Amino acid sequence: MTHLKPETMGQQFGRRSWAEPWKIKMVEPLRMISREERERALVEAGYNTFLLRSDDVYIDLLTDSGTSAMSDRQWAGMMLGDEAYAGSRNFYHLEEAVRHHYGFRHVLPTHQGRGAEHLISQVAIKPGQFVPGNMYFTTTRLHQELAGGHFVDVIIDEAHDPEDLHPFKGDVDLDKLGALIERVGAGQVAYVSLAGTVNMAGGQPVSMANVRAVRDLCARHGIRLFLDATRLVENAFFIQEREAGFADRSIADIVLEFCSYSDGAWMSAKKDNLVNIGGWLAVNDDDQFEELRNLIVVYEGLHTYGGLAGRDMEALAIGIEESVQDDHVRSRIGQVRYLGELLTDWGIPIVQPVGGHAVFLDARRFFPHIPQDEFPAQTLAAELYLDSGIRSMERGIASAGRDAKTGDHNRPKLELTRLTIPRRVYTQAHMDVVAESVKAVHDGRGSTGGLRMTYEPKYLRFFQARFERL
Ligand SMILES: Cc1ncc(COP(=O)(O)O)c(C=O)c1O
Repeated sequence: MTHLKPETMGQQFGRRSWAEPWKIKMVEPLRMISREERERALVEAGYNTFLLRSDDVYIDLLTDSGTSAMSDRQWAGMMLGDEAYAGSRNFYHLEEAVRHHYGFRHVLPTHQGRGAEHLISQVAIKPGQFVPGNMYFTTTRLHQELAGGHFVDVIIDEAHDPEDLHPFKGDVDLDKLGALIERVGAGQVAYVSLAGTVNMAGGQPVSMANVRAVRDLCARHGIRLFLDATRLVENAFFIQEREAGFADRSIADIVLEFCSYSDGAWMSAKKDNLVNIGGWLAVNDDDQFEELRNLIVVYEGLHTYGGLAGRDMEALAIGIEESVQDDHVRSRIGQVRYLGELLTDWGIPIVQPVGGHAVFLDARRFFPHIPQDEFPAQTLAAELYLDSGIRSMERGIASAGRDAKTGDHNRPKLELTRLTIPRRVYTQAHMDVVAESVKAVHDGRGSTGGLRMTYEPKYLRFFQARFERL
């Protein structure tokens, strides 16, 4: 057996290694159950990784939502919760943090992102109006539809091709947007819904040039522009790295400029903002804010807590400040990229370029023999769990749901399995274990068969659907 000289990861890639800008103060033990137990757990969960118990999971890459490790400062903030029903001091800290880092005038806390999506959809969409956006997101589109809107995808075509190396695959296609406005009339466009980064496209960013151009087009037609700011900090990293003129600008500065082109934003603070629960909605317009401030009382809670405890708002205010630090974002995306580079080197098909929050396995190319109607991405998530207890998530035909008119499956071009990396939680060694497991499943891919859906919930079916082996 040849003995290779051990090299650090940095040496292997011909560069100096980087390290996380934190050290570990508290640990949570992990446990791996046997393959037989995993087989049983998977059958019990109907081959849906959302229905597994987390005790049966070894490395949990289901989502980066609410799974981050909070800092010692955030935990200290939890002890400073002012649990007053109204006017909690923590609300004012949160309001100040959002104003300072995102630049919006009015801020409402919500229990999580979809609470904010619900409110903005109810207030800003009239039944029958169109909502163009840069690719759909599951909960966002559903709230837009429940408010009577019709979502229209206006992302550039490159976003639907997992092999295309466009540096800003989240960009809006201005011709598509212009054509929609022309066709239906500006009065029938509720607003433009712009997400940075784009989750369903593989965590792909939007360029500053594109948001400026979308803003100009909207302004010419009197159409509002709202952001899904869930991973806007990660989006800013890609602008800093890839767009001319931004290399010397801080992430915080880039986030602020990006937001300045919009009329408001909704936020799932469980991602970028480093908390386990929470969200917010922010707008600039006074009248729209009045309406939202009234509606929030019905669905979330009084406008100074919106479904959150005082301590949650304090942790969130601190999380916002930590989330825009350059060294944090660099190491967060660096870890995702590390996993992506390993898999790419080994010839495993993933969405390129590697995005901000996850590595997306391209299940179409991974299992070319499994037709889309037999859920290749769902199958891949199940196989990975069986191999090593690693939990991932389907982002393909199951997530895309059904066409509201025809009742047929929506069949997205992208059929992906998402390995989502929680922030500040796992180490490089965990990433190595993940990569080796993906490789093992890839090596045995020829003998893997697909799945059949046996139970299908009406809304957001991917969360609770059940499957069996064909
Ligand atoms: C881009 C995007 N928008 C909105 C949401 C919804 O947020 P939440 O899960 O906090 O309701 C998510 C959550 O996954 C998301 O990724």
